[in-house]
Amino acid sequence: MIVSMAIDNETLERFDRAIKKKGYSSRSEAMRELIRDFIGSGEWEFGDGESIAVITLLYGKDMKKHELMRIQHRYREISTMLHTHIDPVNCLEVYVIKAKGDRIEELLRDFRSLHGVKVVKFVRSACEL
Ligand code: NI
Repeated sequence: MIVSMAIDNETLERFDRAIKKKGYSSRSEAMRELIRDFIGSGEWEFGDGESIAVITLLYGKDMKKHELMRIQHRYREISTMLHTHIDPVNCLEVYVIKAKGDRIEELLRDFRSLHGVKVVKFVRSACEL
């Protein structure tokens, strides 16, 4: 199956450099591995109990801060958050949340849907508490 996608030049150039450095023979080979890793990332395997998750959010200057704040206030389960200015235009935030799996998944979806978000990463630190 052939799949085409839209991507900006800068990201594609960085992707090409990264796959060359890591020794992939083609973009397709690298994308297949990324997709398998994405599917198997465990995000969909929360149990019924509460989990503790660490979420990192990288966003650029086009983030609408009031939308981010609205999300932060909607999730009272967030116990800690930390903001770091990583360069003149990008910010990194780290969240610790203790909640049921479906609430954590909902928060991840809300973060990813925000305009200006570049990377959302997630680590489940403990589950079934
Ligand atoms: Ni900042």
